[in-house]
This record gives sequence, C-alpha cells and structure tokens, in this order.
Amino acid sequence: MKALVLKNPQELDLEDVPTPHTGSGEVLIRTAYAGICGTDRDLYLGLPGSAKADPPIILGHENSGRIAYVGSQVTGLAVGDNVAVDPNIYCHQCNYCRSGKPGLCSHLSAIGVTRNGGMAEYFSAPAEVVYKVPNGVALREASMMEPISCAVHGVNLMELRPSQKALVIGDGFMGQLFAQILQCYGLVQVDLAGISAEKLALGRRLSNIHATYKTDCETLPVEAYDLVVEAVGLPATQAQAIQACRRGAQVLMFGVGAPDAHFTMNTYDIYQKELTIKGSFINPLSCMDAISLLESGRLNISDLISHELKLEQVPELMEGKIGETTKALVTFPN
Ligand SMILES: NC(=O)c1ccc[n+]([C@@H]2O[C@H](COP(=O)([O-])OP(=O)(O)OC[C@H]3O[C@@H](n4cnc5c(N)ncnc54)[C@H](O)[C@@H]3O)[C@@H](O)[C@H]2O)c1
Ligand SMILES: [Zn+2]
Ligand SMILES: [Zn+2]
Repeated sequence: MKALVLKNPQELDLEDVPTPHTGSGEVLIRTAYAGICGTDRDLYLGLPGSAKADPPIILGHENSGRIAYVGSQVTGLAVGDNVAVDPNIYCHQCNYCRSGKPGLCSHLSAIGVTRNGGMAEYFSAPAEVVYKVPNGVALREASMMEPISCAVHGVNLMELRPSQKALVIGDGFMGQLFAQILQCYGLVQVDLAGISAEKLALGRRLSNIHATYKTDCETLPVEAYDLVVEAVGLPATQAQAIQACRRGAQVLMFGVGAPDAHFTMNTYDIYQKELTIKGSFINPLSCMDAISLLESGRLNISDLISHELKLEQVPELMEGKIGETTKALVTFPN
C-alpha cells in the first residue's frame, strides 16, 4: 500500500509498504480522509510540539474510513462499517487512567504519532478507539471527529451558562470550532478574535458570531468576558485572554505554546476577580459528543475544509508551499 513515511525531520517520503498487521483486538481500516494539523507540521519539522514521534513513522491522526478486516476478538464492529478513529490510546492502568483522567495517562500512545497512522491507504487501530459513523454523516466531516472532540473536552472543562459572554481568541480551525460548539452548548454571545480578515469573515458566515476583533489593528475589550478560549498558543494571546476576563471569568488555555514559553499576568487580578484558568489537553471521553454534534447537523465543518490534497502533496504543504489553509484533508480514492 502507499504510505507517507516520516523518516527523519523534513524527510517525508511516499513509499510502498506492507499493509499493516492487525491484532486480534484491532481492526484494519481503508482510509477515506486524513486531516492534517499543526502537530503533523511540528512532527515533520522535528519541533517539540504537542507530541513526540520516533521516526520512521506513518503520520495521520485525524482519520475516517471503512473497516476492511476485523480481528478475532473484536465485537460490535464489522467489515464495511464507516468509522472515525480517536488516535489516543490509554493504558487503563496508571493512576490517571484509574482515577477518571485518562487524557493525562502516563503511558499515552497515539496513532500517527507513536504508532503508524492514517496517511496511508490502510491503517490498523484498537477497536476501543474506533467509532461507528452514523448514517447521514459523511466520512469527509467524520474525519474531523478528533479535533472536534478536543474542543468538546475543553468546553466540558468549563461551567457553561447561556448568558455568559464568551470570547474565542484564534480564528483558525480550532477557534472556529469553539465558536460553533459554544453556541451548540447554548451560549448566546460568542465573539471571535484573530488576525486574518478572511477567517474572521468565515467565522461570521458559519456561526452566529456577535462581534469580531482583528487584533493586529483593533483592541480587544478588557474586563468584558465571562469565558475566554485561547486557541492560538502565543504568550501575547494568552496575556490578552487574561486581560479580557471580567470578575468570576473562566479561561481555557487550549493553544499549544512552545514548551519553554511564558507570559506574565497580574496575580492580584486572579485573586480579586476569582479567575479560573484551565489547561485542556487532547480529548478524553469526548468522541461520543463529537459524533453527536456531527450527527445533529449543527456544525458547519464542510466550509472549514479549505484544501483537499493527494498524499503526494503533503510534503509541499508541510514546506508552506500550498499557502494558508483552514483545514487540509488528504483524500484517498475508493
Ligand atoms: N489542547 C488541545 O488538545 C489542542 C488540540 C488541537 C489544537 N490545539 C492547538 O490549538 C491552537 C489552534 O489550532 P488550529 O488548528 O486552529 O491552528 P491554526 O494554525 O489553524 O490557527 C491559528 C490561528 O491563529 C491566528 N493567529 C495567529 N496569531 C494570532 C494573534 N496574535 N492573535 C489572534 N490570532 C492569531 C491565525 O490567524 C490562525 O488562524 C494551536 O496552538 C494548536 O496546537 C490544541
Ligand atoms: Zn491534530
Ligand atoms: Zn494510563
């Protein structure tokens, strides 16, 4: 089968490799779509991002496809099922897994990061991370189950009420998802901040955004929001997130910063305003909600997909030769 193998940083080769072995508790999936995200680019560049890979590895952790083979011990899944895959595999034995926080697992492994992923015609996955895609949900949108579930996890970490005023900082794919999902969860006022006029306009078109701020030329309101999602990952935007908080606000730090990055904040504000600042990492126990949101038809994922590429075009994308994307998908001919 054809696969995109990361051999070393910046060495991503299209190769013919054997179809993966499928264990007794696993399924083999014929890939339909593979999303590409910032983590893939970090892995490609060898940067310390949200995950660490050990090449040679087949990338791809945002996948949908059709089951081609089912291991002997798998129940509830069958050849021909349309599925989406949660890349994160938990050990179920560490203290975090045993205390209801599998996302913090001490032995986390991940498809497309620590084991071969779906930038290939086929990939295998443990049945426990494979989710059936309901009739009526296209495999193209279903490939976005993983990023949607990461946003759902972040949303689940906050206490939400319809009357809260929310600000999402970051007009990229994740910021746009947060804007849509917060509205699905009942928030009436969601504002969006970013630096791309096109993406801010896209946000206004796809969801019921109350106000947008182009922060390279407009100032964000200070002390104005009950809920702030930071979905960029820069110290400057993290500081803006805190400044935007009014009393009693919650801040979700979702963007992935450089491992050694810092920003300064006024600690008196945290005390006096009773701020809650939460980190959000990956997507524990959130895939069912992501599938339900997809099934509801209330998310517009299709218009967030800006590029469809062939497997052999991915290195060009990684090198920045394809231009600005909101979300690029690799498509596989059936
Ligand atoms: N916590 C998690 O589990 C998790 C999961 C997925 C992604 N992430 C992180 O979330 C962040 C956003 O992901 P994405 O896929 O949308 O990335 P992206 O690159 O598509 O979007 C980033 C956006 O930030 C905007 N931006 C850049 N500088 C800005 C600034 N100074 N002010 C406001 N906006 C600015 C850009 O216009 C761009 O649209 C990344 O840091 C990513 O690593 C976290
Ligand atoms: Zn990703
Ligand atoms: Zn664990």
